[in-house]
Amino acid sequence: MKNREVIGVFDSGVGGISVLRELIKVMPNENYLYFGDSEHAPYGTKTLEEVRALTIENVQALLGKGAKSIVVACNTATSAAVAVLRKMYPDLPLVGIEPAIKPAVLSCPGQRVVVMATPMTLCQEKFQKLMQKYEDEAQIIPLPCPGLMEFVERGDLESEELHKYLTELLWGIQKEKISAIVLGCTHYPFAREMIAEVAGEEVLIFDGGNGTAREMRRRLMEAGRLTDAKNRGNVEFLNSRNTKKEQELCQFLLNRSF
Ligand code: DGL
Repeated sequence: MKNREVIGVFDSGVGGISVLRELIKVMPNENYLYFGDSEHAPYGTKTLEEVRALTIENVQALLGKGAKSIVVACNTATSAAVAVLRKMYPDLPLVGIEPAIKPAVLSCPGQRVVVMATPMTLCQEKFQKLMQKYEDEAQIIPLPCPGLMEFVERGDLESEELHKYLTELLWGIQKEKISAIVLGCTHYPFAREMIAEVAGEEVLIFDGGNGTAREMRRRLMEAGRLTDAKNRGNVEFLNSRNTKKEQELCQFLLNRSF
């Protein structure tokens, strides 16, 4: 058997598990090492320099543990550091995640498409360029959501408090009809049910997890580094806040369907 080394997956906390889930669907026989930096979360309200330094450090740690490829399962870390990482590791299969604006715009041409993400992601040049690319196709409305990832970090996916937060967040924007919401932070798919309830069931919801997973498979295939194992791989969780509670939350989120 060859290439049974792990695929390293990283996020500022537990949100990237929404991407890990898609990776497992697309490549069930691979082994995964997931690192969540919950101790330093949230990244989305930090400076670019802070996020870049933390991301590089965490990617180095995963490589130090033998990762054959890296998925930056965090939109914020991707926008801050993926270009630098590609220069540092030109031969490494490395994939980041960005808000799934393209499929949303293609499904809702000329309509209002809201992009929910961290303040940091939305003010980066990477996002501005992505938005400009599709600005003639639909009306794209960036919506910073400071505080939303913290609900997921607490494992709170259905409280009254979360409902109130989302209602207040979407209130102004929903004065005019919206057709789609892009979940531009990997924590938000875990709040998807409640986002749909508050936004209305007719609003389409998109996230970039599956596209990112398929891109990783393509890169590994090109590099000849997909595993040839015939049985299901393992998942190991590491977290900078290494408590039993954190481990349980990771497993709970991985098993949760959404
Ligand atoms: N999960 C991260 C993202 O996709 C960000 C959450 C945070 O640390 O603020 O952007």
